[in-house]
Amino acid sequence: MQEYIFVKDIIPYEIPRGTILNIVTNSVTPYTHGFHKYPGKFIPHIPKWAIGKYLGEQKNKTILDPFCGSGTTLVEGIITGHNVIGIDVDPLSVLISKVKTTPVNTLKLIKLSEWIYKEIRRKKKGKFKPECQSIEHWFSKETFNKLSVIRTLIDRIPEVFGGDREIKDIQNLLLICFSSIIRYVSNADNESQKTYVSHTKIKIPKEPYELFSYQLEYVSDRIKKFSEYINPKLKSQIICSSSTQLLEEKLKGNKIDLVITSPPYIKAIDYIYNQMVELFWIGDLFELQTQTKQNKKKIKYIGTKHLSKKEYADYTPFNTTLRIKELDEKLQTIFTADRKNGYKHAYITHKYFTDMEMHFAEIASCLERNTHYIMVVGDSMVSGIVFNTADFLIQIANRNGFKFTNKWGYKIKNRFMRFDRKGRGGIIEIDWVLDFIRK
Ligand SMILES: C[S@@+](CC[C@H](N)C(=O)[O-])C[C@H]1O[C@@H](n2cnc3c(N)ncnc32)[C@H](O)[C@@H]1O
Repeated sequence: MQEYIFVKDIIPYEIPRGTILNIVTNSVTPYTHGFHKYPGKFIPHIPKWAIGKYLGEQKNKTILDPFCGSGTTLVEGIITGHNVIGIDVDPLSVLISKVKTTPVNTLKLIKLSEWIYKEIRRKKKGKFKPECQSIEHWFSKETFNKLSVIRTLIDRIPEVFGGDREIKDIQNLLLICFSSIIRYVSNADNESQKTYVSHTKIKIPKEPYELFSYQLEYVSDRIKKFSEYINPKLKSQIICSSSTQLLEEKLKGNKIDLVITSPPYIKAIDYIYNQMVELFWIGDLFELQTQTKQNKKKIKYIGTKHLSKKEYADYTPFNTTLRIKELDEKLQTIFTADRKNGYKHAYITHKYFTDMEMHFAEIASCLERNTHYIMVVGDSMVSGIVFNTADFLIQIANRNGFKFTNKWGYKIKNRFMRFDRKGRGGIIEIDWVLDFIRK
């Protein structure tokens, strides 16, 4: 039995190496944190802890999250008085992060919302049509029409209200609000990480207008408080790109004072598959409106299992090693013992660590000496073998300019936040917090 140290809401700054916490909390969604579901989201307590520990009472520093996802680090950064930079390869996550960290003009938001509420009731049909042949599998006709009306109205905002920055920010907020209701009004199972219509679990989809209005009220209230609370001079920059290449160019000379992130795990989450129904309705904004386009994008994600056979045609873990004995041996075991998937699984895992190595090398070149880098990562199970990812990443970071200073863990609880990997991508229900310092 795993022994946990219970802490209530606040994580102590000094944690002995190897400790595993059980963080008891009632609130994981203050401020703008709860705007949109996102797989693999971590609890705000982690970035809050890192900021408090390494930036203390200082203000106006710059915090980077190179795998920012839905922006948990970025929101915490801004509300504690810092500039933030987020990078993510996933365009929906970039839009979510932008919206969650951008204050809005609340008077204009009220005006636009009133217009939307009024127009929704008047319109019977919208112009917008998703480019999906099997749309009736995912949505009833009535829901389809209502979603089309909402999306059409959001598209009309610049024509009715003008296209200045403040209006554009509110339009983005409405898009995220719209996106956040789609899974719940669809026929797809609400809770599964993958998007599918269950034939055993009966679902009654929510009514779109009611849910959208409810969500818009919630989001408006939260963004109003956020906008009043934060220092408007702070900058939030979110970049849609990969964190394995050309990081220096992307960061454009910004001095980074602290890095807090959680990279993907091996073979754990198919982000695009998770967002499939949302992408039918807003994917056109990112060129991801069709399944063909979505599938092409999947290869860009670290840890993905969507790789072309051509890419690994010549790979074997015997001729291409990662120069970490235990890791190479595990890859060789999978390769030889798992007759069905070993070849592919070994390559997926090899590529994961190669990509993470590229990331460490890139980020090391952008950080000044003694800058802290906090990484949250979980171990995984591949072809029945446990990969202690965290320990391997420590070795990879070490040979790419980082000194490892601490490792502690916490119990994963909320399956809507960190996904419980028991019996799927892995067995471990602990996230490890790795503390590195740029050498
Ligand atoms: C575990 S999630 C981060 C979740 C985030 N901490 C949050 O609270 O929402 C990992 C993120 O890494 C992103 N990612 C995957 N491959 C990437 C790459 N090559 N470059 C940048 N981001 C990548 C995924 O899109 C995903 O959003």
